[in-house]
Amino acid sequence: MKLLKHIANLGYGSRKQVTAMFRAGMITDADGEVLYADDQVEHEAIRIEGEPLDPPAGLLLMLHKPVGYTCSTKDPGRIVYDLLPPRFRLRSPLLSTVGRLDRDTSGLLLLTDDGALLHRIVSPKTHLPKVYEAVLASDLRGDEAELFASGTLMLETENTPLAPAQLEAVEPRLARITLTEGRYHQVRRMFAAVGNHVVSLHRSRIGGLTLEDLPAGQWRALDAADRARLFAAG
Ligand code: URA
Repeated sequence: MKLLKHIANLGYGSRKQVTAMFRAGMITDADGEVLYADDQVEHEAIRIEGEPLDPPAGLLLMLHKPVGYTCSTKDPGRIVYDLLPPRFRLRSPLLSTVGRLDRDTSGLLLLTDDGALLHRIVSPKTHLPKVYEAVLASDLRGDEAELFASGTLMLETENTPLAPAQLEAVEPRLARITLTEGRYHQVRRMFAAVGNHVVSLHRSRIGGLTLEDLPAGQWRALDAADRARLFAAG
């Protein structure tokens, strides 16, 4: 791909703006040699004002989503893209969230511009476990684990039962839930179905990936080893 298109696709500017950047000599190789719009140069060798380029297409990143941010590009309130470099919203192909977390849910959120990878992660057929910690308004009754594991629980307005899910009672009002699917507000609706209420919800794991020590509001790009870990526990 020609440099002009490659750099514009990474969100550095419109083609017109990137053309102006070439003219201004802002785009160089690693040795500081000025590059031109038609050049074909390896991604890793390109510098913009001396800085390496953002990761190329095929990007997968994890974000520690704080409460209060929406997984949307349009919501008038705070959105998860506000936590990423502004250029990331302008990339082509688009960087999408892998599934969604509710505004009031915190934790591990993946974003990617790779449609096939996204599909593989969210597909129930992949059986990738997603682990949530739910703080509850009332004590667990004791029969929830059996019901959630049964594969017969039907949520209101749905016409297929939920796939079996695991529940671990960490404390009387703290449950760890493992799901292999991602229906709308699923954890909150599962607890509503057993007469409880989720006070706060945090996703701690997807497959073999955890946030480790990534602080709330921070993100990092995932490399090949992270991707292998993501699917290792699938
Ligand atoms: N289940 C929910 O209820 N909310 C989320 O954000 C994720 C799973």
